Amino acid sequence: MKPLAQMALDVLQTADGREKTALSHKYAAEWRAARKNGDAVEIGSANPPMHPARPSAPELLSPRDVPRRKPGSPEGRIALLHAVAHIELNAVDLHWDIIARFCHIPLPTGFFDDWVSAADDESKHFNLMCDCLEELGSFYGALPAHAGMWRAAEDTAEDFMGRLAVVPMVLEARGLDVTPGMIKVFQNAKAKSAVAALETIYAEEVSHVAYGSKWFNFMCGRENTDPKEVFHTLVRKYIHSTLKPPFNEEKRADAGIPPDFYWPLTEDLPTKDHA
Ligand SMILES: [Fe+2]
Ligand SMILES: [Fe+2]
Repeated sequence: MKPLAQMALDVLQTADGREKTALSHKYAAEWRAARKNGDAVEIGSANPPMHPARPSAPELLSPRDVPRRKPGSPEGRIALLHAVAHIELNAVDLHWDIIARFCHIPLPTGFFDDWVSAADDESKHFNLMCDCLEELGSFYGALPAHAGMWRAAEDTAEDFMGRLAVVPMVLEARGLDVTPGMIKVFQNAKAKSAVAALETIYAEEVSHVAYGSKWFNFMCGRENTDPKEVFHTLVRKYIHSTLKPPFNEEKRADAGIPPDFYWPLTEDLPTKDHA
């Protein structure tokens, strides 16, 4: 079996979405089997690209140029599924990227188990969204998508704690806040397969946020720092806006993120000019 960092690199360098996610799933299965058998596994090292390979479509636009469609219309529902597919493909790359980029940091093998498992989930999520789009006569790449999604990875390319704070604990946690509303949109439209797919995503995303908070807390424990304070400092550094309620407090609690982590970040800090 290849070293894990090499597997991560292979996935990051595969452009086509279905191919990328098939490779991601194959490697995750190999990793899981080796771990189950108690085989020796090698993490290895890698020098991942700043931008993973992506298909030529969708066209990537700045968020203000991505056309908005009425959420209640069939076109609006396709646009919503397309946006989620794009998020899931980014998530596949984000999880393999954290493995490849930070594998020089000594971490228990359980860290890699968690991220391989999350990457495998995201691969499934991408394919579920693609299947739903195809059922509705569309496909991933048919519409423009958000160009800014890789920004968090670039900003935190040299900051492991920043990456943990921003990706699972802010961005994926936000997914827990907004997914129930999306599920309602598809329930109202009686779109059964989209409801089932989004329910799978919703259930599995809790564990990704939980992996983030688990390893963030682990690292703070190792460094003897206060997790809440470190989290606030990093989110204020990398997220250039306040966090937006309402929050899914129940699912966030399931994932190990208490309210005093996120509520203080809904308010701007008074700057020195105001003092
Ligand atoms: Fe996902
Ligand atoms: Fe996720």
